[in-house]
Amino acid sequence: MKATQRLDKILAHVGLGTRSEIKQLVRRGAVLVNGAVAKDSGMQVNPQQDKLEVDGAPILYREHVYLMMNKPPGVVSATEDTRERTVVDLLDKAYRHFSVFPVGRLDKDTEGLLLLTNDGALAHRLLSPRKHVPKTYYARVLGRVDAADGEAFKRGVTLDDGYTTLPAELEILSQGGGDGESGSGGDSEEHSEVLLTIVEGKFHQVKRMFIAVGKRVDYLKRLSMGSLKLDESLRPGEVRELREDELARLLV
Ligand code: URA
Repeated sequence: MKATQRLDKILAHVGLGTRSEIKQLVRRGAVLVNGAVAKDSGMQVNPQQDKLEVDGAPILYREHVYLMMNKPPGVVSATEDTRERTVVDLLDKAYRHFSVFPVGRLDKDTEGLLLLTNDGALAHRLLSPRKHVPKTYYARVLGRVDAADGEAFKRGVTLDDGYTTLPAELEILSQGGGDGESGSGGDSEEHSEVLLTIVEGKFHQVKRMFIAVGKRVDYLKRLSMGSLKLDESLRPGEVRELREDELARLLV
């Protein structure tokens, strides 16, 4: 990004309106640049160095925003959709003008960690298939997940389209079904609970990996992506900006 930019572009970027609305602000003398009333909405300013004020309030300029969402079920991971509610529809108005987009997709029914940003370079790094960024999911699976499934995932399983997955790590938290050892009251369709860490992001990958070993995921939640962990204090649908330490670790 250039060091200097048009004043109206900068003010539009921080959500102060369209270029013509900003022109009006400048016309009525509401915009100060380094303490002096701006005369021309097209003047060049350096948003990192010049002090900008509108109606007496300082403008905090930033190019990128990084938001963590605890994605709720029932919304699609897209910026717009003609029929469905999207994750961007859940954002506070203050963030809308930053043109953020979700970094990767979670299925409509999947919950948990979703990063939204307008930093295309970071998104590219996190999503690049060559980077093998680990993503950990909590899954509830119908039936009994066992060590053999863990071995299969470690070797790689062949999905319905013939693709063989990269080695993934399975941790079994609880085993239901099968031989009834779980002792949870004779429920004929018992669940196992697992953590699965994958280093790629094929369409419906976790669900299809379990289908490949003859099982079905009935609840899925992403817990982490690279160094970023879901803040469990966020309720479904809630969003917060990344803390500096979280961002610093993601950007290395
Ligand atoms: N794997 C899936 O099957 N679904 C998701 O939403 C994410 C990973």
